Amino acid sequence: MKLFLDTANVAQVKEIAAWGVLDGVTTNPSLVAKEGKDFKETVLAMCAVVPCVSAQVTAADFEGMKKQADEYAGWHKHVVVKVPMTTEGLKTLSYCRGKGIRTNTTLIFSAPQALLAAKAGATIISPFIGRLDDAGEDGMTLIAEIMEMWGHYNLDTEVLVASTRHPRHIVDAARLGAHISTVPYEVFKKLPYHPLTDTGIEKFMKDWEKVSSR
Ligand code: E4P
Repeated sequence: MKLFLDTANVAQVKEIAAWGVLDGVTTNPSLVAKEGKDFKETVLAMCAVVPCVSAQVTAADFEGMKKQADEYAGWHKHVVVKVPMTTEGLKTLSYCRGKGIRTNTTLIFSAPQALLAAKAGATIISPFIGRLDDAGEDGMTLIAEIMEMWGHYNLDTEVLVASTRHPRHIVDAARLGAHISTVPYEVFKKLPYHPLTDTGIEKFMKDWEKVSSR
């Protein structure tokens, strides 16, 4: 499973990429607003580090989305145009497929939405599991349904598990065979650690001191 970082913070991307485990980045308008930096500069700085950076269109109609899709795709070959799951978004996915522009369909909350986005030509679909959990539903059940559907057909569209909230989400996504998980920085930082690793290292070091003082 590929691991993406869900952020608009370039320093965070560089830090996690240095571990040798990062396959891409997902940004969204809220994350970009939080950082307060220039959008294009941010995306370009990330494109220099990872091969897949989602940049979201902000227009609501097909003409506007199409224009932004062409613009963002022209910035760098690592840009993936992020398009919301609306009927105007579906038209944009189809347009982008025709032009060879990679897309990520965002704000997927149901299996029919996932199927339509894939049929319209999305490179990636992003079901938001954490927000479903927040609303009292079971987000991971949606991933299971989508992966079951995908198992019956030769769909090229990759399933990206988005809106993850904790390490167990990443494990469950991998167990279901999802292609990608996007992970917030705070959650990513938890993934390498286990208390038994820390106490194990401490004990090895203490024992090694006895060897080296002989
Ligand atoms: C995905 O691409 C989105 O940026 C993200 O996962 C949204 O997560 P949130 O529900 O934590 O805002």
